[in-house]
Amino acid sequence: MPPPPNLPESARPATLALDAGLTIPPQTRSIQPDISMSVNHLVTPGEGAFSAAELGDIADEPYTYARWSNPTVRALEDRMAALERAEGAVAFATGMAAISGVFLTLLKAGDHLVISDVTYAGAAELARGILPDLGIEVTPVNLSCPHALRAALRPNTRLVYCESPCNPILRLTDLAEAARIAHDHGALVAVDSTLATPVATRPLDLGVDLVVHSLTKFINGHGDALGGVVAGSKALTARIRGRAGVYLGGALSAANAWLILRGMDTLFPRMRQINASALRIAAFLEALPAVKAVIYPGLPSHPQYALARRQMDLPGGVIAFRTADPQAMARQLAARLKVVHYAFSLGHQRSIVTLLDTEEMIRGTYRLTGEGLADYRRFAGDGLFRLSVGLEAEEDLIADLGQALAG
Ligand SMILES: Cc1ncc(COP(=O)(O)O)c(C=O)c1O
Repeated sequence: MPPPPNLPESARPATLALDAGLTIPPQTRSIQPDISMSVNHLVTPGEGAFSAAELGDIADEPYTYARWSNPTVRALEDRMAALERAEGAVAFATGMAAISGVFLTLLKAGDHLVISDVTYAGAAELARGILPDLGIEVTPVNLSCPHALRAALRPNTRLVYCESPCNPILRLTDLAEAARIAHDHGALVAVDSTLATPVATRPLDLGVDLVVHSLTKFINGHGDALGGVVAGSKALTARIRGRAGVYLGGALSAANAWLILRGMDTLFPRMRQINASALRIAAFLEALPAVKAVIYPGLPSHPQYALARRQMDLPGGVIAFRTADPQAMARQLAARLKVVHYAFSLGHQRSIVTLLDTEEMIRGTYRLTGEGLADYRRFAGDGLFRLSVGLEAEEDLIADLGQALAG
């Protein structure tokens, strides 16, 4: 991909995260992005089209109405496209709106979706609970296993949807291999790369067609704005914008786009610190008597450590670990932790830990049986704590976790 026109050809990703697509308005000459809150823009009678369905790529059209496109949201989309080395990107109000935008643009009644049998709970529940009501066939598959993917493909398979690392068990998918297999079969591949971030992995370079992020997590990184994005070829992102963006209506607000742009300014240094802390915390947890197992792509004990080294420049800010009697340990952690917060979500500047109950995940969210069930239990045991490492001093995090986990 050529670099954005405002930057030298040699611009590195850490520079793109700050400056890709940044334009200096001639009236104010501000070097920080301005925020454009206007819902509508002046239009020229007779130009453009009233119906989005009449247009090619709305990203090439003048601004008209903010649900279609907005200058601040566009600045974020351009930055994300540059970081993912994509031709285009479409932002949404949440990560879930981005995921449902992909499904509902690329799939129709009679089509078949192959989805990782473990994904973020919302994506799993949407695929298993709602898509079949629309006549879309769905097969959950362990996508860390290429044979399982091959065996699941059908003549009507249109999309393979992966998550790597997947939330919460941090199992990886070999994205280049999954893309090869799916493409041989004529299917597209999308990956939710929220836990990896563009700092660690660039899925489009590995052959994947679409990359999805919940911007709510590490990319914004400050726990104060929801957002989502899909990046990929111009043809695919134009379809997703014209269909899901305009008609499903989950448009990102300019205010949140501005907050996320500001969060992205520090994405690279934040991820470097978070990853360095996470690596030491994972090793610390692995040595604690109260911890039965640690799953972290940066540890040699991760079952796919070699793939993690190949596919991820950094192992990520999320660590999963198991203890005996997880329900009692959850109560102990919530009562004792002083620096780490016992709460849902991940990817914020403050460290967060929560228990994901295995029985609830298996029965409610994933509805796993057979080999899928056995594999989930292998990773998650009877309960998995998900720790999202933040920016606090590593020594404070280690001391806090140590005292809270002690017998
Ligand atoms: C991996 C992953 N993808 C997608 C989502 C959904 O994102 P949002 O909460 O922004 O809708 C989440 C949220 O936790 C997530 O962890």
